[in-house]
Amino acid sequence: MGVLDRFSLQGRTALVTGAGRGIGYALAQALAEAGADVACVDIDGDSARRAAEELARQGVRTLGLQADVTRKDEVIAAVSTVVNAWGRLDIGVNNAGIARGGKAEDLSEEAWDAVLEVNLKAVFLCCQAEAHVMLPQGYGKIINTASMSATIVNRPQCQANYNAAKAGVVQLTRSCAAEWASRGVRVNCISPGHTVTPMTANMGDDVRAIWLSNTPMGRLGDPSDLQGAVVYLASEASDYVTGHDLIIDGGYVLW
Ligand SMILES: NC(=O)c1ccc[n+]([C@@H]2O[C@H](COP(=O)([O-])OP(=O)(O)OC[C@H]3O[C@@H](n4cnc5c(N)ncnc54)[C@H](O)[C@@H]3O)[C@@H](O)[C@H]2O)c1
Repeated sequence: MGVLDRFSLQGRTALVTGAGRGIGYALAQALAEAGADVACVDIDGDSARRAAEELARQGVRTLGLQADVTRKDEVIAAVSTVVNAWGRLDIGVNNAGIARGGKAEDLSEEAWDAVLEVNLKAVFLCCQAEAHVMLPQGYGKIINTASMSATIVNRPQCQANYNAAKAGVVQLTRSCAAEWASRGVRVNCISPGHTVTPMTANMGDDVRAIWLSNTPMGRLGDPSDLQGAVVYLASEASDYVTGHDLIIDGGYVLW
């Protein structure tokens, strides 16, 4: 098979969390464009359904599902819906996340718990529910969204909870990858740098200026900058890659 054919996702089925907007939507769009049937999952059911309707225009099957990924029963239900509809689940993109920081000395226990629940525990719940389908299939590709914040402490915003959760996602990815490598399930993560989405939209110009001055390429990321990576990691082209953290940050972590 030619190398470009190995990037095709024709005949594959995918589930993307946090797909209602931002990075998740861009990742779902890329998988659909490469030929996969895509289930868009989001806590905001309307945005999930809207995303599914838009992606259906690419000529693939889509589902729009409301689920809170911190709820184990809702994660299992979303995975079951995909399997009942399409017979299998090949690709799981565990991307939903929130940012709620503050100075470490003042950070509330509630903010700590909220960020760890969505950004780390929920990623585990998704990996586990997806693996329960993929391991018996003997094939699967899991891609978690971590962050360059797993590797560096970015500035000027203080977010010890977010940074710790994302570092946890990288090591969770490596742990699952090691456990499931011999059974056909690859687990990798992507780590975006500062990317323009609703999550980062409210940052002031002063903060953006600092981000830009710390980015060797001199621009912030666009969700489309992540699309090639997710297609690669979801496809046969990356079959010998597992446990990897692919940092896509315009060179930010170099400085
Ligand atoms: N934007 C950045 O600069 C950046 C950088 C590095 C990593 N990330 C990570 O990328 C991922 C996507 O970020 P984004 O910038 O697109 O954010 P966003 O806020 O624009 O989108 C996040 C989506 O996740 C959904 N979501 C939130 N909590 C959920 C829950 N409990 N269950 C289901 N869905 C839920 C939201 O409804 C939303 O649609 C996150 O994991 C984030 O931490 C973002």
